[in-house]
This record gives sequence, structure tokens and C-alpha cells, in this order.
Amino acid sequence: MNRYGGLPKAEIHLHLEGSVDLDTVLQIRRGRGEPAGSDERWRLGELYRHRDFPHFLRNFKELCGELRGPADFGTVTAALSTRLRGESVRYAEVFCSPTIFARAGLPFGEIMEAIAAAARRGEAEGGPRMRFLFDGVRQLGVGPLESMVEMAVAYRGYGVIGIGMGGDERSLPAKDCAPVFREARRLGLRTTAHAGEFDGPRSVWEALEVLEVERIGHGIRAVEDAVLLRALRSHVVPLECCPTSNLSTGVVTSWETHPIRTLHAEGCAVTVNSDDPALFETSIAEEWRRLETRLGMSRDDVLAIGARTIEASFLEAAGKRDLLGALRGAAAAADES
Ligand code: HPA
Ligand code: ZN
Repeated sequence: MNRYGGLPKAEIHLHLEGSVDLDTVLQIRRGRGEPAGSDERWRLGELYRHRDFPHFLRNFKELCGELRGPADFGTVTAALSTRLRGESVRYAEVFCSPTIFARAGLPFGEIMEAIAAAARRGEAEGGPRMRFLFDGVRQLGVGPLESMVEMAVAYRGYGVIGIGMGGDERSLPAKDCAPVFREARRLGLRTTAHAGEFDGPRSVWEALEVLEVERIGHGIRAVEDAVLLRALRSHVVPLECCPTSNLSTGVVTSWETHPIRTLHAEGCAVTVNSDDPALFETSIAEEWRRLETRLGMSRDDVLAIGARTIEASFLEAAGKRDLLGALRGAAAAADES
């Protein structure tokens, strides 16, 4: 029994494609008449085991390749909404990767329509309010990032509120992507970027000072630079931490050495998220629990980080206030029972 499962939550770093579990992949394959027997279960099951970070990125891309038509995206969005509802997530910012699908020649407009429709249906049934962030693939270069910004603006009506950038942090230099992020800001899009996950503090500095993003995806390697920690504190730039992800991709080698405890103790705006819950065999409620059971944090610290995740979200002020109130109320009621 997870005592955090019933508390109202937000999640702000969650990849739609990385939320697709093996059973759902097999169901989708069956739906299009492709083999989905025990051989495929064994072969595709390997996508959920990562030797290191580059191997994880390859697995992520291959999993994306299993999603083909708009109906597949409707299926996975509905499944995600149901799962999040079961964990009392009231608001979720969900990354999706239009660049990968556009490159594969998939009809992205129809895909986005199916995603948005499934999200709306899920919300009407008591699931989370979902908003979308288009996530660029850094190693694919500036051109696809520029197109992605145009797409994000075009699909605003489908709940797209901003952009992120994932993939290989060590590939495209930040100065080359800076104009893309500047343009995104000018167009009123919210911004975040994966940095300080696989690469070191320099990558976080560049995300802050060159890309000028509002939040940092992961950012855990900021712990290696005391001056950077001060900058993150004084500018209050939230870190979208995803602890199990870091163990799973090998960027952190043990729970004992995970930097999240130090980052929190140093006063950084730490938030908690699941990243790619299916690929990392975790969930948001499990991440909350592991802050306590694996990282030794107190319940008060876990609740503070949960509340900070709401505060760091791109929700409007009233939405944040309501969700914070719901979390505090439910936590107090759980205390009394
Ligand atoms: N890092 C980089 N790229 C990604 C990730 C991540 O954690 N998840 C999905 N794409
Ligand atoms: Zn991520």
C-alpha cells in the first residue's frame, strides 16, 4: 500500500511515449495485425532494460516506432490518463515528440487530435487535466526544433503550452538552439530543457544563461557546482527531478549517491516526477514513496516536494492554489486518520 497514492498531485516531467507499457504495445500490434506472441513479448521486453543512457535513448526511439496511427496515440493517452487518475494526479504536463513522428511520415495533425480527444475524455471521467509540451530531439539539429516551435503554436488549441528539448545533451551546442528558445518565448510558449542529467553542470549553466529556460529537466548534476547551486536558488529555477529514471539509465549508480537529497537540503526548487514510467518500471506515486523509502526523506519533505511540483507547474495561479489546497487538505486528513 502506497500512502502517497491517494494524495492530489501534479506531474510536470512525463513523456507520453515512455508511458507505454509492454502489454499496451502488444495490444497495439495485435490491432494492426502484427505478431504479438511470446517471441515479440520477449524481444520487445528488451526495450524496457537499459544498459546505459545512450542505450535508453535507442530504446525510447524504438518504442516510439511502435506507435503508428492516430488510434495508437489515442489508446496510449487514454491508458496514461487512467493510470494517472488511479494515482490521484490532477494535473499533468506531458511531453510528446512530434519530430520523431513527423520524420516517420506519420500524420501529426491527426495524431494530435487523437491525443487531445483522449485527454479530454479522460478528464471528463475524473482523470487529470493534461497539457502538452512538445519535446525536441537535440541530436537532430536546429531545423527540426524550429519546425517544432511552429507546430506547438499551431496546436495550441489542443492543449499544447510549450516546448522542451531532450535527447543527447552533449550533441547540439546551446548557442545554436538559443534563437529557437527565444522565438518560442516571443510566441508565448513555456520552456524547459533536459540538462545536467547525462552531461555535467556546464549543460545546466547553458540551459539557464543561453537557452533561458523556465525549468530544468533533471538538473541533478548541478550538485557538482556550488556557484550554480546559488544561481538556481536565487533565480528559483525548478529542477524536474526523476529519481528512478536516473538509476535506470545509469546516470546515478546508487540510491545512496542520488543528488536529490543534497539539492533539496541546499534549497534548490526540487520537484518529483516519473519521466518515462513504463520504460523505468515506476509511477509517480512510487517516486513519491521512494523519496522516503530509498532516499530517507521525511514525510514533510516529500509533501513539500510534491507541493513544489504544483508551484513549478505552468498552471495558472488559481489552478495552483486549488491543487495546493487539495493536497494540503488530503495530507492533513490522512494525518488525523
Ligand atoms: N532524457 C533525454 N531524453 C529523453 C528522456 C530523458 O530523460 N526521456 C525521453 N527522452
Ligand atoms: Zn525526460
